[in-house]
Amino acid sequence: MFHFHTQLIVCFLPSLLALFLFLILLRRNRNALHLDLPPGTMGWPFLGETIAYLRPYSATTIGAFMESHIKRYGKVYKSNLFGEPTVVSADAGLNRYILQNEGRLFECSYPRSIGGILGKWSMLVTVGDMHRDMRMISLNFLSQSRLKNHLLKEVENQTLLVLRSWKDSSTFLAQDEAKKFTFNLMAKHIMSLDPWKLETEMLKKEYVTFMKGVISPPLNLPGTPYRRALKSRSTILKFIERKMEERKLKMEAEGGDFEDDDLLGWALKHSNLSTEQILDLILSLLFAGHETSSVAIALAIFFLSGSPAAVQQLTEEHLEISRSNKRLGKTELDWDDYKKMEFTQSVINETLRLGNVVRFLHRKALKDVRYRGYFIPRGWKVLPVISAAHLDPLVFDQPHHFNPWRWQQMNGSSLGNMSTTITNNFMPFGGGPRLCTGSELAKLEMAIFIHHLVLKYQWELVGSDQAFAYPFVDFPKGLPIRIRHRTLV
Ligand code: HEM
Ligand SMILES: *[C@@H]1O[C@H](CO)[C@@H](O)[C@H](O)[C@H]1NC(C)=O
Ligand SMILES: *[C@@H]1O[C@H](CO)[C@@H](O)[C@H](O)[C@H]1NC(C)=O
Ligand SMILES: *[C@@H]1O[C@H](CO)[C@@H](O)[C@H](O)[C@H]1NC(C)=O
Ligand SMILES: *[C@@H]1O[C@H](CO)[C@@H](O)[C@H](O)[C@H]1NC(C)=O
Ligand SMILES: *[C@@H]1O[C@H](CO)[C@@H](O)[C@H](O)[C@H]1NC(C)=O
Repeated sequence: MFHFHTQLIVCFLPSLLALFLFLILLRRNRNALHLDLPPGTMGWPFLGETIAYLRPYSATTIGAFMESHIKRYGKVYKSNLFGEPTVVSADAGLNRYILQNEGRLFECSYPRSIGGILGKWSMLVTVGDMHRDMRMISLNFLSQSRLKNHLLKEVENQTLLVLRSWKDSSTFLAQDEAKKFTFNLMAKHIMSLDPWKLETEMLKKEYVTFMKGVISPPLNLPGTPYRRALKSRSTILKFIERKMEERKLKMEAEGGDFEDDDLLGWALKHSNLSTEQILDLILSLLFAGHETSSVAIALAIFFLSGSPAAVQQLTEEHLEISRSNKRLGKTELDWDDYKKMEFTQSVINETLRLGNVVRFLHRKALKDVRYRGYFIPRGWKVLPVISAAHLDPLVFDQPHHFNPWRWQQMNGSSLGNMSTTITNNFMPFGGGPRLCTGSELAKLEMAIFIHHLVLKYQWELVGSDQAFAYPFVDFPKGLPIRIRHRTLV
């Protein structure tokens, strides 16, 4: 018996050993695959490092979390965020690579809660053909020719409506005024709502509740902001749906050649999206177009209040435009005037660079990806931190300094490689197939608002307030300012 056993073992020993070796080698190999995962720590189970990642910080910095992680691990590191293994990238080259390979190697992937509140057909959530169709509609709506022939006037109208309501020597919250402006503009552009009507005011109120839910933890429990926001979402959707029904009746009454200049009319006429899809599209455009550009305007007001030289140069630029229009008897701004606002464009770029309205994007890897020695496994979340390069001293000299003049060095002079620096590192509107479709409108809004602001008013901050990244950018006190009328023109 005993002998037999020994024999058996001796017999099988070589194959057992071989199996063992094989298993070890296999493990080795897997480890070798994972050896070049970016460095980093996965933190606590499930929560990972999410809480530290989301801790608010000054919007003109990359925050303590990012700083300490980059110092320890480099610009690309692994972590566990929003409940998933994640690669965080503060590397502009990798970020561009990620955004440009949308749909091939990477795909837009926002947390489930975003889809819950913005809707499963929201443009931020859809991918593939559905995304392409919706993007076409929004591109159509924000085309250069519409900006020139239609939106510019509308932007100026809405700007004047807000600025003229300011009383001399009064103090108010600049952020609220900027929100009023961008909301009225989007409501008009999307559904032809007039700013003075009661329904617009009511929609605005619902929208505020809705927004609070978008940015709060997704806890669907009684009394939470998220639950209230879901309720607001359905109220808003009912409102939009009512508008849609009215519009359909009107379209039928007026026959096939009904011309409507808003997104609702266009989507009804030229697309075969379902009602549910149009509702989500409209809600997501209202969201994308209103929150971001109002923060950008508040940031410009904030940065300019600390740079009298920039305000001075802006005033000269806009006074020149205004005087020349007066000579010609022109009462409204047009596209030629907009093209003359050169220094203003530098101020806008500098505001977006330093303020970073959108700080990082949500993607996931569709395949195992290798990039410059880093390995990103399929299925992992990937967060391109587009703000990192904007605040990197190796890319922008003295990055925490508001210096619009830095943008003037790029105009073909031999001063340096500013122009490649910009195309390679400056990405306030994202990039690739999901590049913001509203970027030109956003700049137009900022420029026209700044035009009338510097010509009509002087302003100063009241008390101290500054922008924080929550990570959505916000002034906790609403940016209180005191204004004084100017009589320049
Ligand atoms: C300063 C203001 C703005 C900033 C900083 C900004 C930034 C961005 C960024 C970074 C993205 C990419 C999101 C991603 O790739 O996951 C984006 C997408 C988008 N933005 Fe903007 N945006 C601004 C204003 C606007 C405006 C005024 C509109 C107009 C309605 C708009 C409409 C959109 C839409 C529809 C998308 C989705 C595009 C797509 O998925 O194909 N944005 N925006
Ligand atoms: C702008 O407002 C004026 C009245 O304040 C109005 O006559 C004009 O039609 C408006 N323009 C646009 C493009 O809505
Ligand atoms: C409308 O739907 C049909 C079939 O679902 C599709 O073939 C067509 O391309 C769609 N048209 C547009 C404009 O999206
Ligand atoms: C602002 O940045 C854009 C890139 O987003 C660039 O094309 C443009 O030339 C810049 N404008 C100025 C005045 O530097
Ligand atoms: C380049 O920028 C300088 C200001 O730094 C300006 O004086 C000059 O006109 C600009 N040149 C062009 C071609 O835009
Ligand atoms: C411009 O870029 C080239 C290569 O990208 C580099 O060799 C050169 O030193 C740069 N010039 C300046 C002034 O930064």
